[in-house]
Amino acid sequence: MQTESILVLDFGGQYNQLIARRVRDEHVYCEILPWGTSLERIRAGRYRGIIFTGGPSSVNDPKAPVCSQDLFELGIPVLGICYGAQLMAHLLGGAVARAEKREYGRVPLTLDPDSVLFQDLPGQTSCWMSHTDQISRLPRGFRATAHTPACAVAAMENTAQKLYAVQFHPEVEHTPEGRRMLRHFLYAVCGCSGQWQMTAFVQDAIARLRATIGQGRVLCALSGGVDSSVAAFMVHQAVGRQLTCIFVDHGLLRKDEGDLVERVFTEQFDMNLIRVNAQERFLTLLSGVADAETKRKIIGEAFIRIFEEEARHIGKVDYLVQGTIYPDVIESGTGDAAVIKSHHNVGGLPEVISFKEIVEPLRDLFKDEVRQAGLALGLPPAMVWRQPFPGPGLAIRVMGAITAEKLAILREADAIFREEIERAGLGPAVHQYFAVLTGVRSVGVMGDARTYDHVIALRGVTTTDFMTADWARIPYDVLARASERIVNEVQQVNRIVYDITSKPPSTIEWE
Ligand code: XMP
Repeated sequence: MQTESILVLDFGGQYNQLIARRVRDEHVYCEILPWGTSLERIRAGRYRGIIFTGGPSSVNDPKAPVCSQDLFELGIPVLGICYGAQLMAHLLGGAVARAEKREYGRVPLTLDPDSVLFQDLPGQTSCWMSHTDQISRLPRGFRATAHTPACAVAAMENTAQKLYAVQFHPEVEHTPEGRRMLRHFLYAVCGCSGQWQMTAFVQDAIARLRATIGQGRVLCALSGGVDSSVAAFMVHQAVGRQLTCIFVDHGLLRKDEGDLVERVFTEQFDMNLIRVNAQERFLTLLSGVADAETKRKIIGEAFIRIFEEEARHIGKVDYLVQGTIYPDVIESGTGDAAVIKSHHNVGGLPEVISFKEIVEPLRDLFKDEVRQAGLALGLPPAMVWRQPFPGPGLAIRVMGAITAEKLAILREADAIFREEIERAGLGPAVHQYFAVLTGVRSVGVMGDARTYDHVIALRGVTTTDFMTADWARIPYDVLARASERIVNEVQQVNRIVYDITSKPPSTIEWE
């Protein structure tokens, strides 16, 4: 239990994860619970404040999600956002009605600087609105503290009861003063002291893991990716060699990657790691397979089989570690129980291995927070800042059927490209970058002789969520150096192209 924490009560809004994120950005720990959470549970949480999220419903719909009215009697400050604001008005005797005009997007906002929420902020600013209903009558004891041209009660408060509400979304970037409003709620209203740091989270998580696991045996499938590495490392800090990690090297990793994982975890951190060198087995299974989805399926299934075989040697385990992170939890909907990542390297495992419980030490964190946690734990930056790498690895970057020779060519070309990007200091700006063996051969000339060799494509993208992406404007001289080095240093490659398509209509990977 954190000494100081905020509860985000989830009413199904799309920005809920962002609210939690913003609270932690202000160095205050927070938890998200579904709207139906019992009053006893909330009371037991000893929260400094509660934030009601937005949500898609109308409070006037009898089926709308509601909380107990008694929640307002706990003496805990509450901030309602959007639907959460309307719910507060509705439950406390105000009225909510359908607005004449739906307000959507960025709109001008006039603030009352006497409100503690808006202290030190400009009287005129803007905010992000997304609502159809609005508060049409204030509950008794409340006053309006902000308005927009279309919304008379864009904010309201009852300072005596420490109840605050905003119709707009302070958590999104489009509300420029939103962060400061949230900060005022946390510090001036809830009296938080902002002691929370990632190191505190890490220490707390380790202590909790130790208490949960006790003397139990723990198993983890380590892929070398950021999430599973940080999760495994945290569990290792808690219970040391009670944890066994199985690292299946399918031979589809990038150059030197398998060795890095092994070195860091066994030599540097003395972890109980079993590296399964299954390169040959995967190559045999994938022989002659050209279809990308079939490759994925084969790799996923083989991975599970191998993990299962190894786990059997270990014998009975009590816990299975998963690197589930918050966006994975959110994707599954409000308040769902453990979600098993569908990535090939963990999906399906719980069905084949018997264990008591899944341990997910990162399930409250966002990706960049996981990286911070990794750094706080002392993991090497190369591992913490690793760019995303698909589970099926290089198998989906060799177009068509893979062979050991093609993999070797791609691995070398990819290493050179990555080295040049990193040498140019572009690593943080280009979010994913790699080489692809296109499956096309072209004519070239080398030392007066005609060649007929592979075409390598280089891909670099910028993106925030990997759902959409733009091709990265990598400087020509960096591309030139990479191209020159690849054709000179890698046998059987005589042409390099750079992929200049965004996603959509392309995807980031070629297969
Ligand atoms: P696409 O190619 O769909 O990729 O634009 C989006 C992101 O997902 C990664 N990716 C995968 N990750 N298993 C994974 O674990 C896969 O089969 C897979 N396919 C794509 C891709 O690298 C990018 O970051």
